[in-house]
Amino acid sequence: MAHTALDPHAPATDAGIPFGVDIDLVTGAMREPDRVLVRRASDMKGYYKDAAALDRLIAAGDPVHYEVFEKVIPETYGHLLFCISKLYPGRVGDECFMTKGHYHTVSGTAETYLCLGGSGHMMCKLADGSWQAEPMCRGRMVYVPPHWGHRSINTGDDPLLSFCVYPAEAGHNYGDIAVEGFPRRVFIRDGREVIE
Ligand SMILES: [Fe+2]
Repeated sequence: MAHTALDPHAPATDAGIPFGVDIDLVTGAMREPDRVLVRRASDMKGYYKDAAALDRLIAAGDPVHYEVFEKVIPETYGHLLFCISKLYPGRVGDECFMTKGHYHTVSGTAETYLCLGGSGHMMCKLADGSWQAEPMCRGRMVYVPPHWGHRSINTGDDPLLSFCVYPAEAGHNYGDIAVEGFPRRVFIRDGREVIE
């Protein structure tokens, strides 16, 4: 049975024995996820350049920005966590919808993102301010090495779907990114992508 919105009582998958998960590679739907994380516009305050545009979006219906579907697996060394990330298309002002982004709490852990559909970037940064934007499109896998903060950015008109895998003990450090931000943002202006 599917649970929603980080249900703390979601039954854990018994990850001690092999199991399978059905994923629709076209829609990105994971059948019977244990947990679905939903981020709406109102969860993204402080992340976009144009705060007034975000407020207007919230007032106009507070649309979902992204959803993360996952199985509950022990967050301990040796296991792997995996999820489907679905980042909807849209703009806040002229800035592309994006995820909050995070470092891993255990900083020396990597992550892979296999893009299943849509288009955009995986924006990566180090704590020293260096950055790299890796294009994402169907069939392209992005490798995020240890120590790199990362956020998905949707520059297209369809959901940006990706399947991600990372060490189960990695954890999510959102706080440092919330304070630091990323060195670059992605906008669509006059139909063209602008990174600045
Ligand atoms: Fe991550």
